[in-house]
Amino acid sequence: MSLPILKFDAVVVGGGGAGLRASLQLSEAGIKTVVLSKVFPTRSHTAAAQGGISASFGNSEEDNWHWHMYDTVKGADWLGDQDSIEFMCKQATDAVSELEHYGMPFDRLDNGKIYQRPFGGHMADFGKKPVRRACAVADRTGHAMLHALYQRNVKAQTHFFVEWMALDLIRDKDGDVVGVTALEMETGQVYIIHAKAVLFATGGAGRIYQASTNAFINTGDGVGMALRAGLPVEDIEFWQFHPTGLAGAGVLITEGVRGEGGYLLNADGERFMERYAPTAKDLASRDVVSRAMQVEINEGRGCGVNKDHVLLKLDHLGAEVIDQRLPGIREISIQFLGIDPVKQPIPVVPTCHYMMGGIPTNYRGEVVDGVDEKIVKGFYAAGECACASVHGANRLGTNSLLDLIVFGKSAGNSVIEFINAMPEHKELPENAAEISLSRVEKLNTATTGEKVADVRKDMQVCMQQHASVFRTQKVLDDGVARMKAIYERAKQIYVDDKSKVFNTARVEALEFLNTVEVALATMVAAAARTESRGAHAREDYPDRNDEKWMKHTLYYSDGQRLEYKEVHTKPLSVDYIPPAKRVY
Ligand code: FUM
Repeated sequence: MSLPILKFDAVVVGGGGAGLRASLQLSEAGIKTVVLSKVFPTRSHTAAAQGGISASFGNSEEDNWHWHMYDTVKGADWLGDQDSIEFMCKQATDAVSELEHYGMPFDRLDNGKIYQRPFGGHMADFGKKPVRRACAVADRTGHAMLHALYQRNVKAQTHFFVEWMALDLIRDKDGDVVGVTALEMETGQVYIIHAKAVLFATGGAGRIYQASTNAFINTGDGVGMALRAGLPVEDIEFWQFHPTGLAGAGVLITEGVRGEGGYLLNADGERFMERYAPTAKDLASRDVVSRAMQVEINEGRGCGVNKDHVLLKLDHLGAEVIDQRLPGIREISIQFLGIDPVKQPIPVVPTCHYMMGGIPTNYRGEVVDGVDEKIVKGFYAAGECACASVHGANRLGTNSLLDLIVFGKSAGNSVIEFINAMPEHKELPENAAEISLSRVEKLNTATTGEKVADVRKDMQVCMQQHASVFRTQKVLDDGVARMKAIYERAKQIYVDDKSKVFNTARVEALEFLNTVEVALATMVAAAARTESRGAHAREDYPDRNDEKWMKHTLYYSDGQRLEYKEVHTKPLSVDYIPPAKRVY
């Protein structure tokens, strides 16, 4: 069947922070660029980032990028690539200043400089005490960032295909990426988008879990497409549980609350983080705080009738500070739980928040394959769907917005270089749309099988029960067996609605086929890693094992194969930061 073909120099898949920063770089360089986005770009999940973007300006107290780099390496539990980490932390102040010049309305100090608040794991003087490094727009930083970047893209004449879903990567006989197939939701038409370069900025996949701070659109589309195209996903066993998801609802309550002076209490009214992290207390890194909360709950010191959450106290900050610095979370707490934090503490639980792993890239945003990191020509990735790898085994709060803009821009620059050296598009292979068409055709014709909602629910329950904050071999092995069965059931899904126009049932089915790839990859990779590192906490292997496990996991969908590659231990210009005990 012949499909309509659209031709661009570059196609960016995803209209969140990384995608918009990349497309801006491309459009401003005169590259004919289209952004495909499942939602209007300013509704991307970046909008949910609340507390800030890290940059060591030192606007309130001394700070510098070396300390930021040290904190990120330590936060990552020494699984981060130190060349990428140096690249990101060194660029942070320029990257944020750029946003400021694009019109991003940062909160200000009286002297006019950007307001910065403390955030978990960000410390002064190589880990001595918390430092103010998070540049904030109240508690709506991601939202403000998206609007600034979108407007700038409009000025730069970026093309937007809104409510389009990319379906599959197109690789030619050399393995080079020459485009994507995509579904226009309004008409149900599948297109081939022929491009010199494809840049994925498709965000995370937090919807693999039952309780998640992630938007419904975070279905791991980029990772699913990469895996189907024979490429690996890196370090996918590492999932961040944010300490303060709103109990029962999952919505994010920013770490900025603790940055402003809020703290956690157990059922005894005890400020328990003092026991777990004597220096940083409630501002220890997220994996540490989430585990501490889970231990309090598991040992019977949880709050409420079911003793299943802890409390986040912030009333002592006063209504004025809360309304000025944290208006969004006050609204969320009132809307979802009927609790006004000016008067009462907020019930919170650790909730799935962020995918540390992703499509392997170098710090230039070029996708790399295999243990020898062979560059996949024409393919780039940035943001949460990518693994640069700056976050290693645990990401520090506010480093994700920074990751989006630093690596969005860097990947954009790499694409410009690649395209400028490439006068013509490479030819499309004859079977360019074969996989996508057969997947769509199956959904169009099948009238019996498994319902998407049923299999998806079973997947989310399985992930929640078998790959949560604490893990053991038995729990993970059982999880692998359950997930493999769910993966097989996913091949039998069907949808009742066969219409073409805005068929959201079909879109959800296609999304789920990506999500389930991520879920299985997570379970298989987690069961294999017999150590505790960052967010991967094994009760049966409580210690980090650098000798055996200071290495990146690569998971390939074909045969659910695992390979391992070296962590980059050579920063770009400074000395290597050797592994040390991680205490806060
Ligand atoms: O807590 C927060 O505001 C989340 C920030 C982040 O994930 O970086």
